[in-house]
Amino acid sequence: MTQRTKVAVLISGRGSNMEALVRAAQAADCPFEIALVLSNKPDAKGLEIAAQAGVEALCVDQKPFGKDREAHERAIDAALRERGIEVIALAGYMRILTPFLVDAWEGRMLNIHPSLLPKYPGLDTHARAIAAGEAEAGCTVHLVTAGVDEGPILGQARVPIRPGDDDHALGVRVLEQEHKLYAATLATFVRGL
Ligand code: GRF
Repeated sequence: MTQRTKVAVLISGRGSNMEALVRAAQAADCPFEIALVLSNKPDAKGLEIAAQAGVEALCVDQKPFGKDREAHERAIDAALRERGIEVIALAGYMRILTPFLVDAWEGRMLNIHPSLLPKYPGLDTHARAIAAGEAEAGCTVHLVTAGVDEGPILGQARVPIRPGDDDHALGVRVLEQEHKLYAATLATFVRGL
């Protein structure tokens, strides 16, 4: 079998998208492997999930770096390079990146966002889509560039907004689609490298 692309998943919390990627990578024909799960928060639930799945789970705690986000990112970058990581998948990584990491991984860092970008970048996407009377919501996988939730779109999945939906109900249905979309889009992306 040809070498699979080494992917690191960066998380800050629950890690359900990370878990979906780890599961997808268990398929024999998956073109990527999840070689590392890295969190900026020591209490991220996803770290336990990754370790239980037999994936290296590493915390590069942001606390000791204080406000120096670039120094924190340099520590992350060193951990990624030591392990021969080729692609980063951000999955609920809740810290705005500096140009250092964005530039260092240009064209090789993906993110998933729970809206149909360019609509609703940022937080509270589902509540905002419902309040605006949208007929549909969804999720987007895109390449990471300097602007938050900007960058070329690699894939999207659409989810109808039903009468009576609140942000929780909608969020649950979008999340199911996120898990499928991220694995499929990442596979297509790494096949094209
Ligand atoms: C997801 O909704 C993702 O789109 C957004 O943050 C959330 C992370 O959830 N970027 P999880 O940690 O993957 O469960």
